[in-house]
Amino acid sequence: MFKRSIISILITLIGITIICAATPNPEFVNFIGSSFSPRAFKDGAMSDEAIQQILYAGSRAGSGMNAQPWHFTVVKNKTNIAKMMNNVNDGNILIVVSGLEKHPFKEFDCGLATQNMFLAAKALGYNARIYASGVQTVNNEMRETLSIPDGYNAIMILRVGYLADNVDVTTSASPRATVDEKSNIVK
Ligand SMILES: Cc1cc2nc3c(=O)[nH]c(=O)nc-3n(C[C@H](O)[C@H](O)[C@H](O)COP(=O)(O)O)c2cc1C
Repeated sequence: MFKRSIISILITLIGITIICAATPNPEFVNFIGSSFSPRAFKDGAMSDEAIQQILYAGSRAGSGMNAQPWHFTVVKNKTNIAKMMNNVNDGNILIVVSGLEKHPFKEFDCGLATQNMFLAAKALGYNARIYASGVQTVNNEMRETLSIPDGYNAIMILRVGYLADNVDVTTSASPRATVDEKSNIVK
């Protein structure tokens, strides 16, 4: 009896997972299209729950051979943040994305994780921007301070916080080439 209940619960859970994975969500494509990254932030502390959700999104990225060759370091301390970036608002966090040096696809995989966290931050109502500047400083001067694990090097930095009030969301995104300019379909 007990065994049968466990089996039916498992079948239900698998069913739900399959349904969720297959449910169309075209709005999500529009959400991606509207997710740009203004430089203008304002002060305001993020909740720990939001930070955990953003890290969770990063950890769900795909990776070559499922190696998950990343490590995320959340930096809240203003003195440490100032060494990596200028003019950061109170409450902004930096997430340093480090890659496992020996892994062949580390840059690509860390890029996917970074983009997942970027989109998660936007989905949770925060502003976010990806930065390459500051990475060299981390690798040359801040490895110990930030406890970057041995064998890993910083690859990218994600800044997350509140969007400034005066940002015009219709004109602030950087222009993009059209889909036609950047793609071709071979029939
Ligand atoms: C790999 C990478 C490195 C970036 N480095 C920086 C940087 O060092 N400084 C900066 O201000 N923005 C940086 N950006 C943000 C880009 O400039 C931004 O994504 C692009 O201009 C599109 O802007 P939008 O999202 O506001 O439309 C970087 C983005 C990526 C993906």
